[in-house]
Amino acid sequence: MTPLDIQHLQTALAGKNPRAILKKALELFDNIAISFSGAEDVVLIDMAVKIRKDIRVFSLDTGRLHPETYRFIEKVRKHYQITIEILTPDRDLLDSFVKEKGLFSFYEDGHLECCGIRKVEPLKRKLAHVDAWITGQRRDQNLETRQDIPEVQIDTAFSTPSHPLIKFNPLLNWSSAQVWDYIEAYQAPYNELHEKGFISIGCEPCTRAVLPNQPERAGRWWWESEAKKECGLHAGNLKT
Ligand code: ADX
Ligand code: SF4
Repeated sequence: MTPLDIQHLQTALAGKNPRAILKKALELFDNIAISFSGAEDVVLIDMAVKIRKDIRVFSLDTGRLHPETYRFIEKVRKHYQITIEILTPDRDLLDSFVKEKGLFSFYEDGHLECCGIRKVEPLKRKLAHVDAWITGQRRDQNLETRQDIPEVQIDTAFSTPSHPLIKFNPLLNWSSAQVWDYIEAYQAPYNELHEKGFISIGCEPCTRAVLPNQPERAGRWWWESEAKKECGLHAGNLKT
């Protein structure tokens, strides 16, 4: 697809409901995968299996997830009877990083280096083999970095000159309340950490529970500023 095709597609999908966006994405691309980690992604999986049985799903296992999150991934796998591809960091990169900087360097010099090795590099490896990917990003998750995300875009962070990569964000216009209404209505599985005050969940050392009425990503990398709260998965959202 050319940039112009994507522009036309974006115009056609603008303001459409998540299922319509997802359906179009799955119709247009055979080699497409859902990037799964949280509540939003389960909504996408729930909708997608009703559209197409052979959906592909992957999850980035950083090695630092909560036990509850591992149980949740397994629950989703069994519930939908799908294969979830679990991606792990490159062993050599990780070994030398941990040897040099230990296990908690992100509290001292920021999360980007660790996220780069534990999340972004494995994601890059995966995305080199698909034509499009689907994420559960929502605009209201972060007003500094996500409020402008479109329904569909060329992924500027992971495309290469020989391999343009398309990214779909079907839930962009949904609120957290809509996600949770869907989960309740369809009895979809969720991470048990949500029962303990967690909203947005990432790695264990970089996620904490939030208080009532705090912004939903306040518990992520809480020692850093809002504008930096992207780990590189969605680097295209960052304004240069
Ligand atoms: S993050 O960049 O801050 O970690 P966030 O937790 O808001 O992202 O999730 C936004 C979307 O990114 C998710 O809906 C999912 O599509 C993708 N994502 C985030 N973390 C992972 C992960 N560990 N594995 C796979 N996809 C992920
Ligand atoms: Fe490392 Fe924290 Fe990023 Fe996880 S969220 S990869 S532990 S810096």
